[in-house]
Amino acid sequence: MGRIPEDIINKIVEYNDIVDIISEYVQLKKVGRNFVGVCPFHNDKGPSLSVSQDKQLFHCFGCGAAGNTIGFVMKIRNCDFKEALFYLAERAGIEINFDEGKDKDKDLKERLYKINLDAARYFYNNIRTSKTALNYLYSRGIDNKIINRFGLGFSLNEWDALINYLKKIGYSIEEMSLAGLLVKSEKGIYDRFRNRIMFPIFDVKGRVIGFGGRVLDDSKPKYLNTSETLVFEKGKNLYGLNYVVKNKNLYSIIVVEGYMDCIKLHQFGLNNVVASLGTALTIEHAKLLKRYTNNIYICYDSDAAGQAATLKGIEILESIDLNVKVITVPSGKDPDEFVKKNGIEEFKKLIENALFITDYRILKVKEGKNIKNQLDKVKYINDVINIISKLKDEVLIQHYAEQLSEETGISLNVIIDKLNKNRANITIKNNNSNIRNNIKGNIYNLVPANKKAEAFVLSSLLNNPSFYEKVFSNLKPEEFLTDVYKELAYEMSIKIPKGETIDKNYFLNKYQEQDKMEDIARVFSFSTDSQDNLEKLLDDAIKTVKRFKLEDKINSLKSEIKKCELENDIHKSIQLMQNLIELQKELDQI
Ligand code: GTP
Ligand code: MN
Repeated sequence: MGRIPEDIINKIVEYNDIVDIISEYVQLKKVGRNFVGVCPFHNDKGPSLSVSQDKQLFHCFGCGAAGNTIGFVMKIRNCDFKEALFYLAERAGIEINFDEGKDKDKDLKERLYKINLDAARYFYNNIRTSKTALNYLYSRGIDNKIINRFGLGFSLNEWDALINYLKKIGYSIEEMSLAGLLVKSEKGIYDRFRNRIMFPIFDVKGRVIGFGGRVLDDSKPKYLNTSETLVFEKGKNLYGLNYVVKNKNLYSIIVVEGYMDCIKLHQFGLNNVVASLGTALTIEHAKLLKRYTNNIYICYDSDAAGQAATLKGIEILESIDLNVKVITVPSGKDPDEFVKKNGIEEFKKLIENALFITDYRILKVKEGKNIKNQLDKVKYINDVINIISKLKDEVLIQHYAEQLSEETGISLNVIIDKLNKNRANITIKNNNSNIRNNIKGNIYNLVPANKKAEAFVLSSLLNNPSFYEKVFSNLKPEEFLTDVYKELAYEMSIKIPKGETIDKNYFLNKYQEQDKMEDIARVFSFSTDSQDNLEKLLDDAIKTVKRFKLEDKINSLKSEIKKCELENDIHKSIQLMQNLIELQKELDQI
């Protein structure tokens, strides 16, 4: 795909007011010149999100999220730069005309959608003439309405019924093969699906991309799916999602394992259910879900495999900050069986009682342990501490720590002590530059201290070009550790003396990676108008930038020295040691 021209990007930004866009997700209130609201990107308590209509930028004082309209859409819909542009363009009725660099598979894909659709129609027509298939569905409590809605069908108990039909309406064997509809063996070519109930699988746009076929009895394999084709990738599609997204007031999505579970729940009016088609949940699935909601329920079978899949699944879902709850269906049943036996109202109670993932994880580590047994108790406490030490919210950590203390009779102090040790490890392992922030106790603020200081220096300068001397007599652009800040600092060092302005839009559109866009937006969205002790803050920030740069140098020097010592290069090692002492001195003087 070619690059989208700059003027089109500017037009798209111009036609989508940031306040309108953000208001779709967050309730904004006007305060002075800006709008404020609760930040959707972290566990916000007060209104940390600030939106500037003048600048068309947003900025969160809590978590450091920042950006323009495109950046906001990327973050909230979890999509990339181009997808965000397309979304905004469509919203504003702007056509994006640029050289698409023709998708070479496009024609073939279109043909595969079409052959799948024709096959689906064929299977669907069969079901009306096949009593056994229809009776099987009725016996499982599936009604006509849902058969029609999901386009359920039947593949005849013959070797070449579909092949003959498709041939007749003009498809080649090659096309049938590429669509995954037939099997080639030494004995010849025959239909892949025979004597099975057919579930057409749609993509989110409603195109038929493949099939699942179920036997009518207990023979194996129970289900047969289309193998991967150019248009069918199991890890990227969710069964039922095309219906779910039609839902105007979609608040949450329930993910189940099986086709039957999915359609049965739809039949009972739960129109927010999708099935993951017997494969493990992937990050692509998670991102797909996040486009439509942040609230996910996972409802897998309660057998061992289902539970293992649940634990893996919640990890993937929470890795992109989805709110996840786990629905547990009692006594080894799947949702379809449960509803059949107990009715939909009882299932709705299960939804209400769904567990937060932390509670679910704690429940799982408790299974099979007897807390009265000393060894089990110690193991249990360690397991729970491991789980809760990964939480970001201090209040939640406190809550679970207290609960653990009450449950086990171990004093809260001991538990908190262990917890802190554990958290220290985690912080260090995660990201060195975050440690400083965490020590200050501000665990919400995930922007590393060096970045914050660098951004502050640049935005002060942007708002007050008179700081030019102060900044650049102390700092060289190379001393900024963050790449985009280095570039911006360099640009400023050249342009400000010439009286030229910095082109905000140029920089905002220069990068298409989320993190870089955020770094840039942070500088432009920050306002220093109301800072009365600005000079003092700026002095501090300049020092901080210098300090981080020096520490960075010192660290690389140290590893170089280590290397020399390993290689027994004493001379060089001594030389470097002297450099190190110089740098240390410099650092002490800041
Ligand atoms: P029913 O027995 O019809 O109620 O099936 P189910 O929907 O409850 O399915 P089950 O829980 O047994 O399996 C969940 C999902 O895994 C199914 O919907 C299929 O997508 C997939 N699956 C199950 N069995 C097989 C199999 O034998 N082969 C393949 N490829 N997939 C299967
Ligand atoms: Mn089932």
